[in-house]
Amino acid sequence: MNYSDWLKRKGLEYREDILYFAKKKTLDIAKRFGTPLYVINEQMIRERYRSLKNVLNHEYKNNQINYAVKANSNLSVLKILNSEGASFDCTSMGEVYICLKAGISSEKMIYTGNMFTDADFKFAVKNNVFVNLDSLSQLNRLVRIHESLGKEKKAISFRINPEFGAGHHKHTITAGKDIKFGILEQQAIEAYRKAKEAGFEKFGIHQHIGSGVINALDFGKPAEKFISIIKKIIKTLDIKFEFIDFGGGLGIPYRPEEEPLDLESYKNLVIKPFLNLLEAEELGEPIFKIEPGRFLSAESTILLTQINTIKDNGFKLFAGVNAGFNTLIRPTLYNSYHHIIPCDLKGKKREFEYDIVGPICESGDILGEGRKLNELKEEDYLAILDTGAYGFVMSSPYNSRPRPAEVLINNNSVYEIRRAETFEDLLNGQKVPEHLK
Ligand SMILES: Cc1ncc(COP(=O)(O)O)c(C=O)c1O
Repeated sequence: MNYSDWLKRKGLEYREDILYFAKKKTLDIAKRFGTPLYVINEQMIRERYRSLKNVLNHEYKNNQINYAVKANSNLSVLKILNSEGASFDCTSMGEVYICLKAGISSEKMIYTGNMFTDADFKFAVKNNVFVNLDSLSQLNRLVRIHESLGKEKKAISFRINPEFGAGHHKHTITAGKDIKFGILEQQAIEAYRKAKEAGFEKFGIHQHIGSGVINALDFGKPAEKFISIIKKIIKTLDIKFEFIDFGGGLGIPYRPEEEPLDLESYKNLVIKPFLNLLEAEELGEPIFKIEPGRFLSAESTILLTQINTIKDNGFKLFAGVNAGFNTLIRPTLYNSYHHIIPCDLKGKKREFEYDIVGPICESGDILGEGRKLNELKEEDYLAILDTGAYGFVMSSPYNSRPRPAEVLINNNSVYEIRRAETFEDLLNGQKVPEHLK
């Protein structure tokens, strides 16, 4: 893919050297709302959802896309996906709560927690949210909570750890013997046997191998292993699965030289083996589920930031901006690459190499290292791309810097969907004991 097509795929283009996003001039948005600022393109979320849904529909009608709420839990983002017909994967009570506030019905949610507390279970059971267990030991507690609340035990699933994982960073690989998630093969049959004995009548099964998988081939082995485990459970326990969930992890091209995830290969490595399983074992038509977060939301968003300082320390050039790892932590946390481009290229022909750094009082506050960019000046604006997943949700008020606003572009209008925090917000919830007043 050439560079301008790569930008276009993300809703970006230069017109006479000025950067437009979702057909809006980025400079106007930055000046109107201030920076740093997360800018979300509603149509992009819809497009990504529809394109993935089409691929699934083409292969198998009874499918469900559960958006991984952890990637971006903004109410408007959830409402957009809900209006498209998505279902939702939650990893905490908080995510379930926000989904309910977004008007999403509990039947459309699955709660894939890990290290569940009794409070988590109570919240899920009271709100009729389907629980996807992460450990055999959690089953007894969940059963007890159903009984204490007088709730019928409807359906249950377990997260299987297929031992083959993948991801963009070691900390985003979620399968493997030394990884905390899920149940390994040797406990899987016991888990479903106990669930059956406890009175559950309907079952699902789930795996999630990791996050940020851009090479579709990485999905092959885990899917194969997952399916072999499913076969063993079916043969031993005569269980019919209502759904089979292959998890999320579908990556996006963060770098201009990267190609998008090859969905054709994904189909061959995940969907086709699933269809073969149905045929071989005569399983009827269980729901084929996946739970992507990044794939649906990452490319929908840019983070606008303004340069305040150009520093030449005689050794290196730094462009200091007003977003830092408090605003976007992925580069610092995972060494992740986010492409960074100027909002205005006018009259800037000479290229220099910059470290784009934030204002946080730590040397690790680097948003982009060694970036070759046309000459930058103080007060220029930059766009940091692909920040719609694990962007705002991972931001913090570290260094007592209030979190930024989020705006949404739709139909040529720009709406503020989260106000920027104020200094007052930094004091939220704090109480000073009498003796310190
Ligand atoms: C259980 C589960 N499902 C889905 C996802 C979504 O991952 P991604 O945003 O990479 O699709 C995650 C993220 O790690 C996860 O833990």
